[in-house]
Amino acid sequence: MLVAGNWKMNTDRTSAVQLARDVVGAVGDVTGVQVAVCPPAVSLDAVFEVLHGSSVRLGAQNMHYEDHGAFTGEISAGMLRSVGCHYVILGHSERRQYFGETDVSVNKKVKKAREYKLVPILCVGETLAQRDAGEENAVVQTQVEKGLAGVEIRDPGEVVLAYEPVWAIGTGRTATPAQAQAMHAFIRGLLINMYGEKVGFAMQILYGGSVKPGNAADLFAQPDVDGGLIGGASLNAADFGAIVEAAVAAS
Ligand code: 13P
Repeated sequence: MLVAGNWKMNTDRTSAVQLARDVVGAVGDVTGVQVAVCPPAVSLDAVFEVLHGSSVRLGAQNMHYEDHGAFTGEISAGMLRSVGCHYVILGHSERRQYFGETDVSVNKKVKKAREYKLVPILCVGETLAQRDAGEENAVVQTQVEKGLAGVEIRDPGEVVLAYEPVWAIGTGRTATPAQAQAMHAFIRGLLINMYGEKVGFAMQILYGGSVKPGNAADLFAQPDVDGGLIGGASLNAADFGAIVEAAVAAS
């Protein structure tokens, strides 16, 4: 199980350091479950200093797919490595929706992240209109297959998937455990097709979208839900800690 907090565009340097301290205080010695926080880029360095020596890992929320060069405002995989990142969230629906990211650009990012030994958390998920039209499996299949096209995975820990139905993000409307399990099992099948039984079965598939202390246990009890990508609730160390505890109890 992996529980990762996506802080999105919240916190400044001071409050990010404080939140990281509170998270370490709440879950810094947890064993049996992996924990990560993904602060805004300007605070990665400072948060890494706080996490150092704890079991909580650092992740970034995005990166560019080139090594370096004239890409004003962008951040490379090497830069993320240099400030201690282990994970990088890629293809989040907010990036696809507001910043024009496509399966093609996300795929380039996944490949570049692997080249730098970062673990991508590749996000996939359908919109409400797509679900209402019965297209959710087709949409997610395309995102998984195109996002991972040409990406070799030998060790299941090299890439993490996150299913985040767009209609559940920040809406308070979470997928039911059955809806999450159905899609996770579908994604599991795609991964087994691409990488074989052994690797596909062991890859982590996180659920994201309005995960809270009150619904985490039921989601994590599903056989193909291997943890969560937590937005709003990760900004409160006690809530995030309670979600991590739910993962510990379920694992
Ligand atoms: P919320 O938990 O705020 O719904 O956000 C989920 C998410 O987008 C995590 O990446």
